[in-house]
Amino acid sequence: MTDKQENDFTMSHINFNQLDPAIEKRVTDLMAQMTLDEKIGQMSQLFLGKEVTPTIDLSRIREGRAGSVLTMYGAADLNVLQKAAVEESRLGIPLLFGNDVIHGYRTIFPIPLAEACSWDMDLIEESARIASEEAAADGTHWIFAPMVDTCREPRWGRIAEGSGEDPFLGSEIGRARVRGFQSDSHASGKKVVSCPKHFAAYGFSEAGKDYNSVDISEQTLRDMVLPPFQATFDEGAGTIMSAFNDLNGVPATGNRRLLRTILRDEMGFNGIVLSDWNAIGELVPHGFAADNRHAGLRAIHAGVDMDMTTDAYEDYLADQIANGEVPVEYVDDAVRRILRIKFMLGLFEDPYTVERDHSDIFLTPAYRETALEMTRKSMVLLKNEGVLPLAKTTTKIALIGPLANDHHEILGTWFRIGEDGDTESVLDGLRQVVPDAEIALAEGCHLYEDSENVVAAATIAAEADVAILVLGEGEFMSGEAHCRADISLPGHQQLLLEAVHATGTPVVVVLMGGRPITIPWMDDNVPAILMAWHGGIRTGRAVADLLFGNATPSGKLPVSWPRSVGQIPIYYNYKNTGRPSDGDGTYQFNKVHYSNYQDESNAPQYPFGYGLSYTQFSYSELVIENARPSLNETLTVRVTITNTGDVAGDEIAQLYVRDLVGEVTRPVRELKGFQTVSLAPGASETIQFEVPVQSLGFTGIDGTYLVEPGQFDLWVGGDSSAALKSSFEVTA
Ligand code: GLC
Repeated sequence: MTDKQENDFTMSHINFNQLDPAIEKRVTDLMAQMTLDEKIGQMSQLFLGKEVTPTIDLSRIREGRAGSVLTMYGAADLNVLQKAAVEESRLGIPLLFGNDVIHGYRTIFPIPLAEACSWDMDLIEESARIASEEAAADGTHWIFAPMVDTCREPRWGRIAEGSGEDPFLGSEIGRARVRGFQSDSHASGKKVVSCPKHFAAYGFSEAGKDYNSVDISEQTLRDMVLPPFQATFDEGAGTIMSAFNDLNGVPATGNRRLLRTILRDEMGFNGIVLSDWNAIGELVPHGFAADNRHAGLRAIHAGVDMDMTTDAYEDYLADQIANGEVPVEYVDDAVRRILRIKFMLGLFEDPYTVERDHSDIFLTPAYRETALEMTRKSMVLLKNEGVLPLAKTTTKIALIGPLANDHHEILGTWFRIGEDGDTESVLDGLRQVVPDAEIALAEGCHLYEDSENVVAAATIAAEADVAILVLGEGEFMSGEAHCRADISLPGHQQLLLEAVHATGTPVVVVLMGGRPITIPWMDDNVPAILMAWHGGIRTGRAVADLLFGNATPSGKLPVSWPRSVGQIPIYYNYKNTGRPSDGDGTYQFNKVHYSNYQDESNAPQYPFGYGLSYTQFSYSELVIENARPSLNETLTVRVTITNTGDVAGDEIAQLYVRDLVGEVTRPVRELKGFQTVSLAPGASETIQFEVPVQSLGFTGIDGTYLVEPGQFDLWVGGDSSAALKSSFEVTA
């Protein structure tokens, strides 16, 4: 990103959580004209297909029995629906058009988990702003993102959509994405409202199986799950989506304590609660409702304002009001929230979308450059033993693997209207960066099927200066409903890897996927490993730039990377237990009775916050200015970082604390700050962290937040295993 762009990031965004008396009056006046059926009509979100067809049924829209439509794209089609609402219904209330714009609309960026590796809030905000710009120009008003589900479960396919395992990082990223999506500087003049999801705790689906039960403590709910949602509300998010999962026995979408007491009364959220797809209807298979009528009753009492596709409100709510099962105030409250967002979006003044060619808005050169910058920063160098960066004089390259010349899988999950033709494969990137190199290409094996041609691949590897292996997952192996019980390399890729390694040619692995992939053999035997995730349209160029030193890797993991699936859930902010295993928890026959395994280490393959560079950084002179702060003071911490290598690089410095004693057990480390410094070789910089003591609290025994006086340890370093340590004491 250029300095100029950096300076341009002083854009503001819309806070949909801020009430405006003028709008409230307009809502009141409109509601006074509405019949009960028209009010209930606003509470239904319909799926009418992905495009307008000759047989599409617009009757519910004309009769004012629809408030929103989802998953339809394109100004022309959306205008057809909007015309039916605005010009052919009695009150002309415009529709809200919602879509899943998860990591780009047409300019597809890296998957959110990859973007999280950048730890670059400005860039993450810009990525979301670009996505929102393109979506708004094409008629979308409502983006069903950011997904802010804290997640420790790489078996769960949707880990790809979020920001990983830490609530502090997840909160900052959630804020950045809300600012970007709700930017008020879109060239089209249009506005977009975001929808943090899935409320709540969907990321804790048991065993990483999608839609599975969630059973967590009040402390985990409040200290791990809710903070990123609170952060998005504080940043002005105007809607949220209720989750599919049951939470401690009560499905989120029917959970009154969650959606009214916690969300409204405690967290102060004023916006729309939209159910997830048929999540109201799913209260029946949950065994929480006898039928859709009962499910609708549960949901409206719980506080769901808009029903995505079940039609429980459409079918039963008027009758339930008439017979006193539902207070009409619930409907009035819901409709007020829905109309408020429509007014705040300006839909009553400007309901239609200009139907035009979007070549000046989609995939602009500036957007492609920003995507490249983000993609480079999203990739994480996991290992490098003297191989990278490759010399640009490299003449013979063997490019091998099922993803070596892939133009589709790199779009990642939820790529929506992204197109394969917009992407650069790794082969494309290498041809751009080392145009004179001779590149021999071999797939070696299929992505997941039994077919393989390992011999041909090994043959070209044996004749090359370097073998670049591009391995990993297809986009369909992560994302919603795409969970894996075995998260190792799919198909015959391990066989291919070992065969190429056996040739003796230096091997570089570029790994792709929507989650951490267990690679113990690779880490033991391959000298260079770059995690490229599913990097979006600029994947190929970003990989080539990093492999050949046009850019220096800076990405850091937002998740702990398991050695084996048996370690899961594995996360850095774990509890110490009464029998902590020392070191990395490797089993010691003379220390049997400790918290570890007989057959696996406790340590991750790579820790949270980890990522290598082409240079090295040292940390020194850790100083806590006020080492005995009181409860309402702020801790000031300084540390000096030095680039001890011979190339420039960016280092994401991280600050962790540990509360040594609490009325509930406390994590061994908690992220409480991070900053990125750019340093030339040999340069040093002293940076400062400000840590409010009030941010060091936790949910106590009685379920309320508290900060206890006492001793804390503190570390600053380049990942969650940082060794440079100090301590402080919070005083009463
Ligand atoms: C899906 C997802 C949700 C998405 C919604 C609309 O099932 O759970 O994240 O926004 O339905 O597509």
